[in-house]
Amino acid sequence: MSKKPFYITTPIYYPSANLHIGNTYTTVAADAIARFKRLTGHDVMFLTGTDEHGQKLQRIAEEKGVQPIEYIDEIVAGIKSLWTLMDIKYDKFIRTTEDYHKKAVQKIFKQLYDQGDIYKSSYEGLYCTPCESFWTETQLVDGKCPDCGRPVEKAKEEAYFFKMSNYADRLIEYIETHPEFIQPESRKNEMLNNFLRPGLQDLCISRTSFTWGIPVEFDPGHVIYVWIDALSNYITALGYNSENTELLEKYWPADVHLIGKDILRFHTIYWPIMLMALNMPLPKQVFGHGWLLVDGGKMSKSKGNVVDPVILVNKFGVDAVRYYLLHEIPFGADGLFNNEIFIKKTNSDLANDLGNLLSRTVTMIEKYFDGVIPEPQVKESLDEELISLALNTPKLAEEALDKFNAPAALDHIWTLIRRTNKYIDETTPWVLGKDEEQKPRLATVLYNLAESLRIVSVLVSPFLPSTSEKINAQINATNITWDSLKEFNGTVFGTKVCKGEAIFPRIDVEAKLAELDKIAEEAKKAAAVKEMEPIKEEITIEDFDKIDLRVVKVLECEPIKKAKKLLKLKVDLGGEVRQVVSGIAQHYKPEELVGKNVVLVANLKPVKLRGELSQGMILCASTDDDSKLFAVNPGDVPAGSIVK
Ligand code: MSP
Repeated sequence: MSKKPFYITTPIYYPSANLHIGNTYTTVAADAIARFKRLTGHDVMFLTGTDEHGQKLQRIAEEKGVQPIEYIDEIVAGIKSLWTLMDIKYDKFIRTTEDYHKKAVQKIFKQLYDQGDIYKSSYEGLYCTPCESFWTETQLVDGKCPDCGRPVEKAKEEAYFFKMSNYADRLIEYIETHPEFIQPESRKNEMLNNFLRPGLQDLCISRTSFTWGIPVEFDPGHVIYVWIDALSNYITALGYNSENTELLEKYWPADVHLIGKDILRFHTIYWPIMLMALNMPLPKQVFGHGWLLVDGGKMSKSKGNVVDPVILVNKFGVDAVRYYLLHEIPFGADGLFNNEIFIKKTNSDLANDLGNLLSRTVTMIEKYFDGVIPEPQVKESLDEELISLALNTPKLAEEALDKFNAPAALDHIWTLIRRTNKYIDETTPWVLGKDEEQKPRLATVLYNLAESLRIVSVLVSPFLPSTSEKINAQINATNITWDSLKEFNGTVFGTKVCKGEAIFPRIDVEAKLAELDKIAEEAKKAAAVKEMEPIKEEITIEDFDKIDLRVVKVLECEPIKKAKKLLKLKVDLGGEVRQVVSGIAQHYKPEELVGKNVVLVANLKPVKLRGELSQGMILCASTDDDSKLFAVNPGDVPAGSIVK
């Protein structure tokens, strides 16, 4: 019988910097699912890769004085070796700078243009460079990019647009009639209510402001918007728009796109609409997992709190890290990466529960049967509970994993591990071992332990592949197929066990925590003395003179409803009262400002922010991430004084 195909993908990562534990999480989760599917007899295609175009990458390369591809090649090599380190067994790695992908994307663009889904126009708006997205005034949050919170710039470009609205109704209907399409459920409602139902705007899908992208074939001044390029990878990797479409026929539609919740909109709105326009079936499911947070919130380079998986693997082994990611982060929700919990869990679940079970079993087989796995002889009713749990666990684990719930699957497996440890306490082999007459019973007990371990080893193999191999080597397990779990007799008696080193040596919590704390401290220090922002282009005194800076006294100050970051101030400019809206609400309480002198950029063109007129800007000094901010204090001079 031919195997059932199963196609799973990760997002393709931006090679803008080395990957961290958050990206590693997505890939490890996808790898465990892919391995599980292979084990249960599926013909798996597991795709990952890198998303190598866009203005941000061009800028980084320019700053470093190299060609983009030179910079990217180095990062991609690092990503591939990270995946080797993490035991990731992907079937294909796509790079969007590869020729076959670029050609296929150009053809997609042309087809959509020819059939009228894409049209040329021009775009004027507020542009966020890191996100490569245009926004309208109303979409901004506190005057900044709603996705990343960074400042936006005014920009105008001739551009191509995708008529998203043509497909919105069809997509809404599809989502409503396919409840499994967007998972978890809560994310589906977010997409419908926040984006689709209010109405879709046409999407700007080309850029002329930079060159590091796939050129529009019939209009080479334009490069294709990075998300159109990136999303297409899921089909170009299988040969879409190429001579050989065998893989496409076999694996498309994908069974699941596993992604972080941050890129759900792209995968559940833009991507399905592109596919509808191309007349292709939609992926069966898009699963948006949560964020991996660290103490203090999101990981960020400027905070110096980015967790590096390489350090953890080198200190604690790959499977300790895989286990933590797969078991401790509730699938679908945000989870925490914390060094202390990580070390304690490694000790309790891996060193104690699993490691001890293996070493006790192998030691007893050596001690009582010269290392030869004995033939079971005397059964007791006590055995039944263990055996029935061992035979039932594969089904429970598979059901959980079919819902992509790795933590639940591991819980089922650990229930069996703990039950097996309890079986040792119940049967007391060390007591049986003292009495020659009990040897037949002891043989059964030790056989059952080895057999339960064999089943555990097969079950953990998708999650902890190298641990599984080590267990197999010690108990000499050769029946390691999924089918071999149907019966409790796959261990071959008469074969020799081979005691090895502890699979998870106990970790000295205090000592290792101190080591990790020291590394974290150093990273924080390094982040604090990071490279200085480059000084802007030189200006003349005349240029500077154009800016009219005045001392103003704050007369009134109040928050603005529904705008967490904004305060509305009335300031005295020495005879004239002005209203100013300022994004400082997270740093000042209104009463702290009233009566104070601050500096105003007095000749800045007035704008409306959240419907309120702002006639100038208050000068502030802030850290890069805005975690600290101070209004510049001009001292005690009369309102209206000039600052120069
Ligand atoms: N290149 C796009 C994806 C294109 S897919 C067609 C991109 N790349 S990324 O490198 O910025 O991020 C990729 C993914 O990494 C995120 O969607 C998310 O899945 C994962 N994560 C990045 N940081 C993360 C955490 N802190 N926690 C969990 N996952 C995170 O977006």
